[in-house]
Amino acid sequence: MDRKLDELLFALMQNMTLAVSGEKLAKDLHVSHSTLARWVEKLRGAGIEIRGELFTGYRLVRLPDILLPQLIRPRLNTRIIGRNLYHFYDVDSTNSFASRLIAHGRNVAEGTTIIAETQTAGRGRLGRSWISQREAGIYFSIVLFPKAPPSLAPLFTLATAVAMHNAVERYSGLDIDIKWPNDLLVGQKKFCGILSEIQAEVDLVKMMIIGVGLNANHEHMPDEIAGRATSLRIASGHIQSRIEILLEFLEEFENIYMDFERKGPRSIIDQWTRFSSFANGRRIEIHDGVRKIAGVTRGLNALGALKIELKGGQIEEVYSGDVVSWE
Ligand code: BTN
Repeated sequence: MDRKLDELLFALMQNMTLAVSGEKLAKDLHVSHSTLARWVEKLRGAGIEIRGELFTGYRLVRLPDILLPQLIRPRLNTRIIGRNLYHFYDVDSTNSFASRLIAHGRNVAEGTTIIAETQTAGRGRLGRSWISQREAGIYFSIVLFPKAPPSLAPLFTLATAVAMHNAVERYSGLDIDIKWPNDLLVGQKKFCGILSEIQAEVDLVKMMIIGVGLNANHEHMPDEIAGRATSLRIASGHIQSRIEILLEFLEEFENIYMDFERKGPRSIIDQWTRFSSFANGRRIEIHDGVRKIAGVTRGLNALGALKIELKGGQIEEVYSGDVVSWE
């Protein structure tokens, strides 16, 4: 269904200045007049302003900022990441959709990317939810089949943070920080989070879904999170192009992912350490799900765990958790 809506929207976008007759659209899209009218209503329901009606012709009121595969595909210079795209106007969660695709035994190509304009049940790390305001954010998931043991899985999440760091800095010129393990910050506030989920055997990751939520054009953040969360628009004072950020990210991520397959984890660890102010010498407190660990950061180990020097001088390696306070 969403694929059909994409075709209709793309046809309207190509004729922005003139109204396109319903007759022609229905013929080009091989559907009846009533189906066409229903699709137009669905696009309107997704916030796209379309003037006109079946017999006078349809016209877009303004160019909508929609992450249409028809706009992404011709500009994407990757071999695997994003070559197979799904795009939704509404979905529960792009990560959940990716798991369903795999659970239903579909032949899912590596790098398949699922993008949504909004999510009704977006999920965050540690059981939290992820608010997914329509058109304001970028919400997507990538399916990977990394040839690696489960112990290396966290590295792919760090790689995602590095790729998004590079993509956003290059596109916006903003100064971006990475908070361990994979939150992206601008001006000390979070604007992007990553949720990775894996299915694994004891010695092999069978499948990994990396979900990314990025606040691009939110004008305000909800009161409950405004103290710690922001958007690129708030931080920069400008509207951001979601499609440019997504394209930069997909290409950057593919380079880092390919590098991992060729050379192993070193370059991910090195880049993460270079770009994160949390990597070394930072006094922090982490909650690892069971207890709080306080100390000074001393870099990452070879598996991506954060090394923390405790009060007595011993080093503790923390594999997962949340940085709850920092100086
Ligand atoms: C976090 O808690 O920081 C991680 C947030 C991850 C949100 C993204 S939005 C796209 C993908 N689908 C989801 O349901 N969650 C991730």
